[in-house]
Amino acid sequence: MDRIRIRGGRPLSGEIKVGGAKNAALPLMVAGLLTDERLVLSNVPQLADIQTMSLLLAQHGIAVERVTNDGRTLSLGGPITNTEAPYDIVRKMRASFLVLGPLLARVGEARVSLPGGCAIGARPIDLHLKGLEQLGARIVLEGGYIDARIDGRLKGAAIVFPFVSVGATENLLMAASLAEGRTVLANAAREPEIGDLAACLVAMGARIEGIGSDKLTIDGVDTLHGATHAIIPDRIETGSYACAAAISGGSVFLRDARLEHLGATVRILREAGVDIAEEPGGLMVKRLNGLHGVDAMTEPYPGFPTDMQAQFMALMSVAEGASMVTETIFENRFMHVPELNRMGARINVHGASAIVRGVPGLSGAPVMATDLRASLSLILAGLAAQGETMVNRVYHLDRGYEAVEQKLAACGVDIERIPA
Ligand code: EPZ
Repeated sequence: MDRIRIRGGRPLSGEIKVGGAKNAALPLMVAGLLTDERLVLSNVPQLADIQTMSLLLAQHGIAVERVTNDGRTLSLGGPITNTEAPYDIVRKMRASFLVLGPLLARVGEARVSLPGGCAIGARPIDLHLKGLEQLGARIVLEGGYIDARIDGRLKGAAIVFPFVSVGATENLLMAASLAEGRTVLANAAREPEIGDLAACLVAMGARIEGIGSDKLTIDGVDTLHGATHAIIPDRIETGSYACAAAISGGSVFLRDARLEHLGATVRILREAGVDIAEEPGGLMVKRLNGLHGVDAMTEPYPGFPTDMQAQFMALMSVAEGASMVTETIFENRFMHVPELNRMGARINVHGASAIVRGVPGLSGAPVMATDLRASLSLILAGLAAQGETMVNRVYHLDRGYEAVEQKLAACGVDIERIPA
């Protein structure tokens, strides 16, 4: 397994190009199942998860072709020839479960492996299943797989989510686009990635009202046609590199970053002493003076994102004063804490909250990446630490961050990947 070695203590200085959003690209690729015409996606990030999704779609008969050699523009299309999403793919990437609604909507059947839990929590999919049953699907759980069927077409329904779920909103939004009649999704997720998916579906001929709000109204159509869609920039990558600039005491221009997608992240980082300014073509992020401890609680968009929690905690570990970080979305998303404490951080976890007492500095150490965002938080700590930090198991990182070592090295960081 590859490792990443960092020698800390250098302020970042330079420019980082923010890539296409992983959590928009994945559902957008699944939308390729909704039409037998070609869906062309540009600004596709080069990530392990994108490769896994391409594998899964090929399994269903949807060819994923590179329009540009760099793989940043993909053309998806073809008839659905297989409706099974196998365990060995779904277990690697939970977003695979998003194929359930589109397969049901297109061909009336699907056999999708249950995703199982993952490092950060049990991550059930009950909201996906209940919503699809309300659209008329018959769902049976058998042998670790979901067998779903509909005789004829899915029928529109009024669905109220008991709590916000990004994936359930996406699954039902895609299924409802081809259902007969009207579907209303109340208490829907409002993440920018949902808006990007909805905009692409509209370009494909879907009829969707309320985009950007927590109530989506979809009037199903008989068929969807092909479209060309540019994927929005990744707001979590943006927030992650903003933390990199801040924790190193440097200044970085984040090309293509969009302030309006960052939600509460902007307010919280500014309160902590990070300067974030819109400039033509992106955001300028710098740390002028000291960092202050600021409390943060993760919430659905536009609240502070759970996907920024680990990175923010690394930043707070070297801030002046204390910070209380509360994780309300996932039940086990503090696995970066013991690793940060190995580097000299002073973090105590009490249930869903962690108290971070800022320390003057961190010291480099060998640490273990446990999940995608935790990996980045350890790299951030390495930027600020004196001495050498070795981050192990960086395959987690490669799922969601493209070319981290190149992007940071271009800003003056002493960082290299050590192949297994
Ligand atoms: C998406 O996961 C993202 N993944 C996650 O990003 C992100 O952390 C999460 O949304 C929250 O913003 C992708 O978009 C591919 P949820 P998803 O359904 O859809 C519970 C990353 O680091 N729940 O909004 O799986 C669930 O257990 C990843 O890029 C149910 O109980 O998240 C969780 O506690 C990590 N039943 C909460 O809701 C359900 O049917 C929110 O989950 C569905 C969810």
